[in-house]
Parts: sequence; C-alpha cells; structure tokens
Amino acid sequence: MFPSTSLLLVAILASSLGFALPQPNPVLSLQKRTAQDYVNDATSAIGKLQQRYSTTTGLWDDAWWPSANVLTMLADLAEYYPDAISSVTDVVFPTTLANAPSALGYTNFLNGYYDDELWWALAFIQVYDVTGNTTYLDQASAIFEDAKSAWGTSPCGGLWWDKANSGVGAVENELYISTAAKLANRKPYSPSQYYYLDEAIKAYEWFIGTGMINSGNTINNGILLTTCKNDGNLVFTYNQGIILAGLAEMTFATGNDTYVNLAHTIATAAIGALTNSAGILVEVCEATGCDGDEGQFKGVFARGVAFLYRRASVLPAATATLYQTFLQTNANSLWANDFNNFELGLAWTGPYQTADVQTSSSALDCVVGAALVT
Ligand SMILES: *[C@@H]1O[C@H](CO)[C@@H](O)[C@H](O)[C@H]1NC(C)=O
Ligand SMILES: *[C@@H]1O[C@H](CO)[C@@H](O)[C@H](O)[C@H]1NC(C)=O
Repeated sequence: MFPSTSLLLVAILASSLGFALPQPNPVLSLQKRTAQDYVNDATSAIGKLQQRYSTTTGLWDDAWWPSANVLTMLADLAEYYPDAISSVTDVVFPTTLANAPSALGYTNFLNGYYDDELWWALAFIQVYDVTGNTTYLDQASAIFEDAKSAWGTSPCGGLWWDKANSGVGAVENELYISTAAKLANRKPYSPSQYYYLDEAIKAYEWFIGTGMINSGNTINNGILLTTCKNDGNLVFTYNQGIILAGLAEMTFATGNDTYVNLAHTIATAAIGALTNSAGILVEVCEATGCDGDEGQFKGVFARGVAFLYRRASVLPAATATLYQTFLQTNANSLWANDFNNFELGLAWTGPYQTADVQTSSSALDCVVGAALVT
C-alpha cells in the first residue's frame, strides 16, 4: 500500500472525530526509508508496469530497446531481492527470450541499430548473473558477434550507431565496451583467452582517443565524422551511465584501477553537472519535452551508479556517500512528486504529467538503485 493511503484514512477518521492529528512531514518520513521500503515501492510499481507486458510478444507495450532496459531493471532487483520479484521474473526471463525477436520480425535480437542490439546483450548478461543459466549468456555473446563484426568499419573507427551508417555515437560504443568487459569476466576462455577483453581494451582506447569524454569529465553525444572528434553535442544522462559498469568490469578483468577510477570520475562529474539544486537528475529535454526514447535515459545512469556502489573494487568512502545520497534523494523525490497510481513520470522533481514504459521503468531503475544502496 502506498504509505500515505493509511495516513489519509487516519486523518479522515480523526477529522470525523473532531480533532486534528499532527501532519506527517513527507520529506522527513521519506528520509528514514529502509531498503525494504524501496523494495516494496519497486515491486508495487513493477506490478503496475506488468499491465503493459504481453506474454505473446515478450515486450512491454511493444517498445523494443526500452523492453531490454525493463528486463535489466528486473534482473537488477532480482540479484539482491530474488524472492520479492520471482513471480515476475520466472515468467518474464524465459518468455522474453523466446518471444521478443519474432514479435517485431527480428532474428536473434538483431535489427538495424547496434545500440538496440547491445541493450539486449547487457540485459541477458544480467539475467545470466541472477539465474546462472548459460542459455542467456550465450544469447548475449551471439548478439555481441554482430557488433564485433562491424567494429572499426567507420572512417573514424569504432562502431557505427546503425547499419545504414548514419553516425558514430557514444551510446553504442559505450554499450560495446560494457558488453565486451562483462563477457570477458563471464567467458574468460571462450572462444579463446582474452577474446572479449581485447575487444574491451581496444574499444576503450578508441573511445578515449575521440575525446568524447570532455574537459568536465562528462560524455557528449558522439563524434563528428569530419574530424573523428567530440561533436560537442548534448550530454545525455544515459551516456554517463552505460560505461560505468563496463569500466568497473575492466578493472575486475585486469586488476588495473585506471578503469574503475575513470568510472568514479565520470559518475561524480555527472552528479554535479546534471542535477538541479535539490540534487535531482534532470535530462536536458525536460525543459521542452522529451521524446519516448529520452524518457528511458535517466534510469540508465542511476543503474550504473548503483552498480559502482555495490560492486566497484575501489570505492572511496566519500564517493560511496555521494552515490547513496544521490540515489536515495532521487528515489524519494520521484516517489513523492512524480507518482500517479503506481506509474512514474518523466520529471523526478515533478509535477507528474504522464507515464509510459520508458518513464516508469527508468524511475524504477532509481528506486531499485536506492534499495541496493540502503
Ligand atoms: C535455461 O533457460 C532456458 C531459456 O529460458 C530454458 O529453456 C532452460 O530450461 C533453462 N535451463 C535450466 C537448467 O533451468
Ligand atoms: C592501466 O591501464 C591504463 C589505461 O589503459 C594504462 O595506461 C596503464 O599503463 C595500465 N597500468 C598498468 C600497470 O598496466
């Protein structure tokens, strides 16, 4: 039950009895929330989100790459609170694997966009992590091969965003680094030793060389094909998030702290640069209205921050506190201000306007993240 409902009943009862109860301070009560409170929030909103899930298509509202992100969010919660979510994941994990590609006419989760494909690869790696079932890991590595075969074919190197070769962006290149790094740790000798680690390091060195990480340590949209350097375009929240787990996993694979330290540098810079004065994460487009894709972005950053908090092999105490405060503050704000009947909207400061698969699951990444760091 949403906590204010019971308070409302008490208040109605009290007013009918003719005396006034002291009103709870919603901010203070939210600050005292436990990990279990966040888990309860997450599972109640997931229950609502599941009304958008089809067992026929294995997708949420037939939204293709957002559904990969929903799957990842569910698996993130399942990693630490499996019993809270097993009734959902027991159905969704096998059903989405089996039905999603054919639902939209794709084969093997491949379509015209390397970023779309790699979102699915990361989702199935996370599903493998929580189930131990290698069918999911093999699906992820099969997807990765499609991107691997195209890596380096743009005139600037790296990975094209799409098979029509219209641009080279941060998103698909970060996804490539993170997928390769995770596969390196889960398939260290298959098909051969260093097969995936070599890809991760190669792609990392290329990424650094483009200058997409700017002087403020945040990551711009992509590169200009005329210069092969940072395009100076928008700093989207998800481009600060995708690479974080990949860098941490490169440190797991190599023992070299350079990578995880860069993850902390990027995450810390983004928390400083992309939040408002209340510490709430804001996508640039919120000022004018975001498109459906952009509604997914912020959760990807929250997910990466939670990963660093739980898993990074190097985590200075002040950095841990920064991440914990960030996730709790954002989860508290969106639950208090951007909530309508267990659906969650775009602007985590509120006011709630409308929700879809992208906005609800993105906000849920933050709520799950708060559960993981509390
Ligand atoms: C692993 O997952 C696949 C795909 O969902 C399923 O068919 C298979 O039964 C699972 N294997 C085990 C041992 O649970
Ligand atoms: C760690 O990785 C960085 C970045 O690739 C590299 O410059 C450095 O030489 C590595 N350190 C060691 C000890 O291998």
